[in-house]
Amino acid sequence: MPRPRPAHAPVTATSSVPALVANALPLLDLAPAADDLRRDVLDGLARRPRSVPCKYFYDDHGSRLFDQICDLPEYYPTRTELAISRQYAAEMATACGPHTLLVELGSGSSTKTRVLLDHLRDPAAYVPVDIARDFLRSAADELARAYPRLPVLPVCADFTRPFTVPADRLPAARRTVVYFPGSTIGNFTAPEATELLRNIAALIGDGGGLLIGVDLRKDQDIIERAYNDARGVTAAFNLNLLTRINRELGADFRGEHFRHRAVYDAGAGRIEMQLLSTRPQTVQIDGHSFDFAADEVLRTEYSHKYSLEQFAGLAAAAGLGVRQVWSDRDRLFSVQYLSRA
Ligand code: AVI
Repeated sequence: MPRPRPAHAPVTATSSVPALVANALPLLDLAPAADDLRRDVLDGLARRPRSVPCKYFYDDHGSRLFDQICDLPEYYPTRTELAISRQYAAEMATACGPHTLLVELGSGSSTKTRVLLDHLRDPAAYVPVDIARDFLRSAADELARAYPRLPVLPVCADFTRPFTVPADRLPAARRTVVYFPGSTIGNFTAPEATELLRNIAALIGDGGGLLIGVDLRKDQDIIERAYNDARGVTAAFNLNLLTRINRELGADFRGEHFRHRAVYDAGAGRIEMQLLSTRPQTVQIDGHSFDFAADEVLRTEYSHKYSLEQFAGLAAAAGLGVRQVWSDRDRLFSVQYLSRA
């Protein structure tokens, strides 16, 4: 996830893991230090209501659980976006243009990307950006194998923070298009989303574009079912956050004393994922104690749903204009192409 803002943080570290596939370039490691997790968790738990940033869901196990969520019958966003992408891939590729550098933010297993890559004309390179290093490395290798003529440069980074990919690591391209599927933009509050879109606008420049998945407002039941699946995969994904904090920060959360909950706030137009303390309890993290009351909420994620007008307004505030919108028949989800206004 190349992070916009030109004058930003220079490269902090570069790993030299050998490429397994000729066109899979060595992973560029710009991942934040464990200190970020410590600081964010301690800060978030000290607030009221308590919260932990949702980006910490995605350790290796969390990324696998997220892939399972994407296959759940209740979780409509992935299959709907995939169907839209399959139906309109040729039009999307035309919007992206030939000889494009495709940068994907939060690339995960790069599943939807293949549909786009199959239609892009002579893409210059593909830069998947993700925070889960091992997951990213294997997904990039797999993709490079499937597209042997495409240079693939995986970047391990937190795309919610500014970062720079050194120009000498990138092949020449006619333009940069950021691909940001999955409606991950919905996981940011409006000010955060505006800042991220502004950074993307700086990254793509005047000739570039943003191809983004945006989940749309709809019936509340459909949304709540998607985040409270019958098999409990979303609950496991949510609770894995505590397992990760225990492992990486030596905390003593007891997962069996927290319960997954996801509720839709119609006024704010967002689902809120929470972990509910089922009893009074104290959690220790690195010399700090946190007392949870019974039924106290630890907020773990927002997932905003937008109308087309609302999203256009958000984009405009970031200096981006919506050029094309593709949607499904039921108007559950949209894929949109934007460029600088
Ligand atoms: C990654 N993001 C768009 C997902 C969402 O729907 O907000 C994360 C997720 N959380 C629970 N299920 C899926």
